[in-house]
Amino acid sequence: PAAPKPPKVQKSSSEKVLKIFFGTQTRTAEDFSRVIEKEAKKIGIPCEVVDLETYDPNDLSSEYFAMFLVATHGEGDPTDNAKEFYLWLTSEDRPSTLLANPAVPFTVFGLGNKTYEHYNAVARVFDRRLEELGGKRVFERGEGDDDATLEEDFLHWKKNMWVTVCEYLGYELKSSEDDKFTPRFRMITLTEENYDVNNSYIRVNPPKIKPKLSNNGSVIYDIKNPYLATVVENKELHSSESDRSCKHIEFDIGENLSYLVGDHLGIYPVNESALVEQLLLRLGVDGDTKFAMVPHDKAGSVIEASVGPMTVRKALSEVLDITNPPRKSILRTLAEYTQVEEEKKRLIRLASEEAADEYNEFIKHDFRTIGELLQNFPGINPPISHFLEFMPRLPARYYSISSSLNATPGRVTITSVVVNFNTPTGRFHNGVCSTWLANLKVGDKVPMFVRESHFRLPSHYTSAVASDKPAPPMIMVGPGTGFAPFRGFLQEIQHRLSTKQISEQFDNILYFGCRGSNIDYLYKEEMVVYQQSSSLKTLTVAFSRETAEKTYVQHKMASDKEKIWSLISNGGYFYVCGDARSMAKSVNQTLIQIIKEYGSKDDNAAQQLIEDMQKSGRYLQDVWF
Ligand code: 2AM
Repeated sequence: PAAPKPPKVQKSSSEKVLKIFFGTQTRTAEDFSRVIEKEAKKIGIPCEVVDLETYDPNDLSSEYFAMFLVATHGEGDPTDNAKEFYLWLTSEDRPSTLLANPAVPFTVFGLGNKTYEHYNAVARVFDRRLEELGGKRVFERGEGDDDATLEEDFLHWKKNMWVTVCEYLGYELKSSEDDKFTPRFRMITLTEENYDVNNSYIRVNPPKIKPKLSNNGSVIYDIKNPYLATVVENKELHSSESDRSCKHIEFDIGENLSYLVGDHLGIYPVNESALVEQLLLRLGVDGDTKFAMVPHDKAGSVIEASVGPMTVRKALSEVLDITNPPRKSILRTLAEYTQVEEEKKRLIRLASEEAADEYNEFIKHDFRTIGELLQNFPGINPPISHFLEFMPRLPARYYSISSSLNATPGRVTITSVVVNFNTPTGRFHNGVCSTWLANLKVGDKVPMFVRESHFRLPSHYTSAVASDKPAPPMIMVGPGTGFAPFRGFLQEIQHRLSTKQISEQFDNILYFGCRGSNIDYLYKEEMVVYQQSSSLKTLTVAFSRETAEKTYVQHKMASDKEKIWSLISNGGYFYVCGDARSMAKSVNQTLIQIIKEYGSKDDNAAQQLIEDMQKSGRYLQDVWF
């Protein structure tokens, strides 16, 4: 390859490397960073992928080129691993010349989801702040929408980005047809000979990540180091009349995890064993093979392994994402492992920018798994060592916590509806986490961690000092499992009432929705108890399948316009939890309608009021799709 032209930018204090920083919750941003890394290496640009959590932001001013791939999570929040960096970046104390002498070149790509209101908020903040601090934006920010076109958005951004960045750094951009996967790891197979029985590392993961410790020396569990909680209850909430299943699952967390009502629980599931066994068969591997992945460029002892030691079966069950439709980059990689010309051509086409429709139809719409794909393309035969590395990692799933830690010390509960559907290929798809959870028995272990949220009770209800003033009113809208965080709220309120930490002087209303009173009315008996204890003043239930026309929570709200307006105008808090795509939108529209009619406001003023409520934390959403 031609020697690179000398770079135009000269930096003395740091190595001339492109740093690719990622902020990720589901590993997508990390996977994308690896794609960039691979291409940078091909071009000849020395580079390094950096987890934002492991980076000292004070080094940023001496970077040679900083690229950020950052996801926005929840309601416009940074991901767990980017939280500290985000705080540093947005702190008012930073001088505006911090990255200016000489200006640190940067570019940003954001991973977001348009279904959520704060689309790519984190990437936008990164982009703005890096410039405000004196950095030089070499290439425009890109934004990807996980609701539709995330990977295409990324590929499109990346293509143009390389043109500009190569020009800027003085490298020659090479297009290359060859897209061989270059492993970063080596697979060591453990046999009886090299398996040291005196070492227990075969049964436990090596301590790759040093656990974080709190001031008193106890371990802080997080996304990278989850706590193994024990199931103490797993109960069906739907009646036998329901054609669906919804589970109330309670875990013993002792004093190892702490949470507030409204927080989320991240859970690492296990893949369905039938899918794992099919895949093992198709790949021609013995699932009992014990292996470890060690970095290619290091001597690499099993103790320092990046994955394992574990069996291949365990890796396919607990480490790899084998259910989500494979990304284009995976198809491109798979193309290198078939000798059948037709297959190779089709895979390359499916991965190309031009064949977006074909990819969307064949992979996304059909919800094709890697297992199905390998059946469709019998010529693909990747070695297991490569497969274990290039496949994406199984991400954690998030659940709204449905309990209060104060009311139930040492316990956490979730309320999980079991997801399943027939895919267009005729496969019966079981939602990975909800199905796994539904089948857990008392005593089973579940890796979990708490993710903090903004979905909070008004501070009046939770402050340590009891106030004489009445607490602000609350309107809670949560059909189906959208009730989960409100169960936590109500438990907390009930607990505080019974311990005299708050007085009864408040007003609240819950809009719950389900299909029928004898079908899927979750926690029906408990609702009565919340009312009897005055924790819940008004309960309104929308039964969607008991009338000729569907009755939903938003219809019930529309029948209570005057009451809702009176609560809102008295400083009330508005909460909505559940389906983002349709329910939360309709609920929002109904609220706007109420504000317009009873607050005598036009469209803009009503919208403004909602925005003001959002800013002051009085309109809170915990929504998903
Ligand atoms: P359905 O299934 O009869 O359509 C909890 O799942 C409840 O939410 C059910 O009663 C369900 O009704 C209802 N639901 C479905 N879509 C909704 C929407 N767009 N808005 C409000 N509620 C909805």
